[in-house]
Amino acid sequence: MTGTAAPKRLYIKTYGCQMNVYDSERMADVLRPLGYAMSDQPEGADLVVLNTCHIREKAAEKVYSEIGRLRVMREEKQAAGLGTSTIVVAGCVAQAEGEQIMARAPAVDLVVGPQAYHQLPELIARASRAKGERLAADFAPEDKFDALPSDRAVTGPTAFLTVQEGCDKFCTFCVVPYTRGAEWSRPVASVLAEARALAEKGVREVTLLGQNVNAYNGLDESGAPSSLAALARALAKIEGLDRIRYTTSHPNDFSDDLIAAHGELEELMPYLHLPVQSGSDKILRAMNRKHSAQKYIDLIGRIREARPDIAISGDFIVGFPGETEKDFEDTLNLVRQIGHASAFSFKYSRRPGTPASAMPGQVAPEVADERLQRLNALLEAQRQDFCASLVGRTLPVLFEKRGRHAGQAIGRSPYLQGVHVEAAEQLIGRIVPVRIEAAGPNSLSGALPQQEMAQATA
Ligand code: 5AD
Ligand code: SF4
Repeated sequence: MTGTAAPKRLYIKTYGCQMNVYDSERMADVLRPLGYAMSDQPEGADLVVLNTCHIREKAAEKVYSEIGRLRVMREEKQAAGLGTSTIVVAGCVAQAEGEQIMARAPAVDLVVGPQAYHQLPELIARASRAKGERLAADFAPEDKFDALPSDRAVTGPTAFLTVQEGCDKFCTFCVVPYTRGAEWSRPVASVLAEARALAEKGVREVTLLGQNVNAYNGLDESGAPSSLAALARALAKIEGLDRIRYTTSHPNDFSDDLIAAHGELEELMPYLHLPVQSGSDKILRAMNRKHSAQKYIDLIGRIREARPDIAISGDFIVGFPGETEKDFEDTLNLVRQIGHASAFSFKYSRRPGTPASAMPGQVAPEVADERLQRLNALLEAQRQDFCASLVGRTLPVLFEKRGRHAGQAIGRSPYLQGVHVEAAEQLIGRIVPVRIEAAGPNSLSGALPQQEMAQATA
């Protein structure tokens, strides 16, 4: 064959958490050498990947309706004589329901779990040749990280970086231990190499990802387990890498060393996502969380001693089996005691195979809805209070992209809020002090101090 072939088009739709965002980026990295270029729409794509989420029923069900749409799209493409497209289901639904997907949705060419996507090139080739080998759902992440290309496409000054996968906690509501497997940590050298490569490409902020990221215990060069705090200290030394975040943590893995790191490392951003799920000890026990509400409150107190301005975020579930009005009020009370800068709240979703799905006392949907509304109202008021408390302060903002109108740039505060500023595009990739002037419904707005403005427009 001679000449350069037209690039093949790849569309990836990502559902769920940040780890899926990372995995989607890495799938694109794996497929790029084969001539696949990213497309931002499924129409006309040669390869469509659905990177799926299994955490709640709604997320999982969306996959099947999306497959239906893709099948129709492919038939239209074929009827118009424009060739065909390959449909791949990846991610956690692929891992958990691979067999069912293939039975229920024959339009799917390939099902590939979260630990097997580094094999996509050969899997796609095989799937196109024969029916049969269409399911890859290995469980060991080691091979994947060794096999992924070291060259990552970078899209801006921030990046996700997976350092830990899987979960051994077995909260009774959660599918993650079944979809992502046992806790496993990436070796320190592998993480540092990826971080250095990112920094060389202009990345200023990394968010370390793991289902239980603060249980990180990857081996260092000497073969000894390293902690997340030690990893953060090593990352902070990388030239150009000025901001480090991590998510998601478990209260029981929060070591004194990690608390100390928050007090000591300027690079460790003062924002912490630390889910508690409920404020009722009875529900926490039924959830198998293995900590009390008070233990969580005390832990936040110790973290705040080390880093007084730290912004707290969390996850909450309402309507867990057996949750009474009193249990729910305990959750509201915990929320009032903590004071959140942001939070995510969910209605309990019954997941097949999890212990909670068989528990007595399932809560009526309308009761759970009503509780969710009340919790959301409280969390939203706290979020707005937190944003309002920043007005008048000057915060370092990492500029990430252009705003919607010309002459506007958007960055992030240390506390993870978006900040809109009338500023030149040249600021993108820089960390600049911004005076916060107003707190809008979803973001802050601010202005550059005069001197910065002069430099940026010079
Ligand atoms: N129902 C509702 N929310 C859930 N989460 C996990 N499993 C479920 C479930 N079955 C929430 C938890 C977790 C977040 C990622 O999703 O709050 O921290
Ligand atoms: Fe799920 Fe609990 Fe593990 Fe988090 S700690 S991933 S909620 S089992």
